[in-house]
Amino acid sequence: MLKLGVNIDHVATLRQARYATMLESKNAEPDIVMSAMAAKRGGADSITMHVRGDRRHVQEADVFRVKDACGLPINFEMASTAEMVAMAQRLRPEFICLVPENRQEITTEGGLDVSGQKETLLSTVGALKDGGSKVSMFIDPAEEQVRASRDIGADMVELHTGSFANSEGVVRREELARLTGAARIGSQLGLGVNAGHGINYTNIEELFEIPHLVELNIGHSIVSRAIMTGMEQAVREMAEIMARYTV
Ligand code: PXP
Repeated sequence: MLKLGVNIDHVATLRQARYATMLESKNAEPDIVMSAMAAKRGGADSITMHVRGDRRHVQEADVFRVKDACGLPINFEMASTAEMVAMAQRLRPEFICLVPENRQEITTEGGLDVSGQKETLLSTVGALKDGGSKVSMFIDPAEEQVRASRDIGADMVELHTGSFANSEGVVRREELARLTGAARIGSQLGLGVNAGHGINYTNIEELFEIPHLVELNIGHSIVSRAIMTGMEQAVREMAEIMARYTV
């Protein structure tokens, strides 16, 4: 069965919008551990978090708290930097996904250029695997990137579905064909094949034609849906409290 990895970065985005400098405050919300537990109750197979160099959403303490409390496998997304390798070695998550990181980007924009940085990534992957994690490469669905991922010892690839999600018509069909081709090669090479980025409630079923998929990693659309499905209840609870005002 296809697994669901839930990315909770944007729960932290919401918290940081108000409490970036007051994380220890008892008022700091939403609570990222509670969101991970809710994702678990909803059927998540793993929890993904990305600690970015600029700490714009998930903080280092968050990943340790979620790992200790949640009981689901953690998929730690990280850039290939000395700082993040050291963090991963302390955290020892079940899974690590190496992603490119660019300070100006709003979200991860393209896949990692594995074939262009084989030597550096080879040593990063080796260090991470020594820590007991299974390591994935977040790549565009291109044959040379899949092959390079295998060459440097990655266990898995995560195929970038962003171009598929942002395209329409013929181009979208072409993106699906690229994803299918990359998934086939990955599987032939013995790699686990995951996919993610821009997947939502309306486009997800189009991806079901891609063979060999193990896990989909989905964040923004689940967190957005959680706000919309929870808004009515949240307002009702506040209104009920306000109804106690009698003077
Ligand atoms: N996979 C990777 C490697 C990502 O960087 C992201 C975004 O943080 C996702 C999956 C999830 O993307 P989205 O938030 O669009 O569902």
